[in-house]
Amino acid sequence: MSINWFPGHMHKAQKEIRELLPEVDLVIEVLDARLPYSSQNPLLQKLRGQTPCIKLLNKSDLADETLNQIWVNELQKDETVKAYAVNATDTGLIKQIPQWCLNWFPERAANKKPIQVMIMGIPNVGKSTIINLIAERIIAKTGNEAAVTKRQQRIKLKGNVVLHDTPGVLWPRFDNQNSAYRLAVTGGIKDNIVEAEDKAFYLAEYVMVAYKDLISKRYDIESMPLEPYDLLTKIGEKRGALRSGGRVDITRISSLFINEFRLGTVGRITLETPEMMYQELAEVEKQLAAKAAKKAARKARPKGSR
Ligand code: G4P
Repeated sequence: MSINWFPGHMHKAQKEIRELLPEVDLVIEVLDARLPYSSQNPLLQKLRGQTPCIKLLNKSDLADETLNQIWVNELQKDETVKAYAVNATDTGLIKQIPQWCLNWFPERAANKKPIQVMIMGIPNVGKSTIINLIAERIIAKTGNEAAVTKRQQRIKLKGNVVLHDTPGVLWPRFDNQNSAYRLAVTGGIKDNIVEAEDKAFYLAEYVMVAYKDLISKRYDIESMPLEPYDLLTKIGEKRGALRSGGRVDITRISSLFINEFRLGTVGRITLETPEMMYQELAEVEKQLAAKAAKKAARKARPKGSR
């Protein structure tokens, strides 16, 4: 199944970013550490140019520790980027964010000119939670549903840093179906857009190979099946998620499987690696080139034959 999803508010967000960017010294992009590639806003890279950027891999408590470090290193290959794995329960770390901003501009410590910082992030990455923690008061409303619209904010932080929160709802990658599925699994795309079964099958297919030991342990599975359907059936049998007649209720067990993943009950899991990102980027480029070639060929045909 392909996810045909297009966020309606993207023009507003794009306009805000374009207007604000020339005025800011630094950008903070909040990412989900479980999908540091798919939770990026695809336009930021283009618009930002050489403006320094702090990438926060938030929810790192839910992500694979080894991959957190691998992703930090990967993102920092760009010299205008500093990346940090953070999480909302480690408030000591989050409160260092203003200092991390100041570190980019040591010369500013001596003068009064504040450092202007724009913070952005696609829905549900934890941007509001982070803002509330660094501002040390409730500023942004947090909620578990993606795409809660918020009002424009300008927040003065300790250490001569002014934080601008972009109120428009940012969109994630939608040129790549794999990214769309992973976002649906983590809750980065609203739950009503993709069926629970589709999300659970996608997640199962990945974790039953990449995190086989965690799955075996959590669901007490001795021999790992080959198909996602069989894994969900096994889990359903163990958990007694049965319909009348004794068959496994796949919808119910799918929701449970997704919820346990989101809560981190299964263990610390990251859904993508830099290798996957490079492979998928190449795939998307190939698709775009094929589309462009098709369009060009159509245009080149004589008018009457189109
Ligand atoms: P947003 O502004 O980017 O849309 O996200 P928001 O801060 O509203 O956070 C979305 C959900 O993610 C919230 O959970 C929040 O508690 C959770 N969250 C944020 N940061 C972290 C983190 O570092 N680790 C973990 N494990 N969770 C994090 P919720 O269930 O929607 O709300 P609540 O019941 O926790 O308030």
